[in-house]
Amino acid sequence: MTFDAPSLAALADEAKDWRRTIHQNPELLFDLPKTAALVTEKLKEFGCDEVVGGIAKTGVVAVINGNKGPGRTIALRSEMDALPMAEQTNLPYASKVENMMHACGHDGHTAMLLATAKKLADDREFAGRVVVVFQPAEEGGAGGRVMIEEGILERFGIEEVYGMHNEPGLPVGSFATRSGPIMAGGDRFVVTINGKGGHAALPHLSHDPVIVMGQMIAALQTIPSRFVDPLDSVVLSLTFIEGGSEKALNVIPASVRIGGTIRTMRPMTRAAVEARFRDVVAMTAKLFSAEAAIDWRPGYPVTVNDPAKTKLAVAAAKAVAGDANVDDDYPPTMGSEDFSYMLEKRPGAFMWLGNGDSADLHNPAYDFNDDAIVHGVRYWLTLVDQRLNGSLVE
Ligand code: NI
Repeated sequence: MTFDAPSLAALADEAKDWRRTIHQNPELLFDLPKTAALVTEKLKEFGCDEVVGGIAKTGVVAVINGNKGPGRTIALRSEMDALPMAEQTNLPYASKVENMMHACGHDGHTAMLLATAKKLADDREFAGRVVVVFQPAEEGGAGGRVMIEEGILERFGIEEVYGMHNEPGLPVGSFATRSGPIMAGGDRFVVTINGKGGHAALPHLSHDPVIVMGQMIAALQTIPSRFVDPLDSVVLSLTFIEGGSEKALNVIPASVRIGGTIRTMRPMTRAAVEARFRDVVAMTAKLFSAEAAIDWRPGYPVTVNDPAKTKLAVAAAKAVAGDANVDDDYPPTMGSEDFSYMLEKRPGAFMWLGNGDSADLHNPAYDFNDDAIVHGVRYWLTLVDQRLNGSLVE
């Protein structure tokens, strides 16, 4: 496959316009009629072999067959959804929708993958096929999981999956990733402690749930500090407390509630921590003759890069950016990513793309860096070329 600098620059310029159009028209979760329509229209215009919309409500998948015969099927994935927050950038192409903005760069990711699809559909100099996946609801709705549940992996014969996300603070033109866990798994919980209420002056006649809660908070914090290997990473944060009334300070309440989130970096640790959490909650309650009900709300799994596929991704990034501009041992973050569901089902790799000196993700001043587009598109094309034309084999 050939892609020279001038033609890539022209393609990136076109993608910049799409990016800004998407940026001006942010949409949330699964409700992406405009964005999905734009993506579908472009993919059809490019002449992709198959364009299927309406997956997970507004997700779009397109297939591009190579003209060098049979081979692997690899998927490249982008997210399309924005965030429910007010933009504060004062950009000429700022959001036109109140309290919605593309503050995570999904506008840029979508534009880069569209540009990639355009070039692939034009060129076709590869064996096998490329499936481009545009998903809804990355920001909290598990749109990627829903697309998997609706059968995209089997339906399109996807064997490997690759994802890319911009990273503020990483210089434009550079890339970063790591083998193994790259982003945390995040679960949430609410615990209701049921004791026995009563008169505050006669505590021996009640089972005070406030005392249970105090002990429970302290005991739960021993999970990260005493239960898990100090070299493994776990965060347990209690972020919600509710109980009693300031209008009844002489009443011991019958029940109180606490809630929070747990982040883990390894699937095994995630399961062990959940089991330990359930034990600590149940036994602390029992110790004080109370009962506890746990509302466990599973979140995104740990995002785990396959070691062999990470090598392929790193090689492609190095071919684009040069060895010095690719960090293949980038520290993992405690944030979570819905691409984790795809990586649970198929081997693949998640890559960070430098967004330069920009505001942080999910910040009202954030904007995707258009200068990164050309590097991101070149990465996708190089990955396809190297993987499907066999110059990169495991
Ligand atoms: Ni994001």
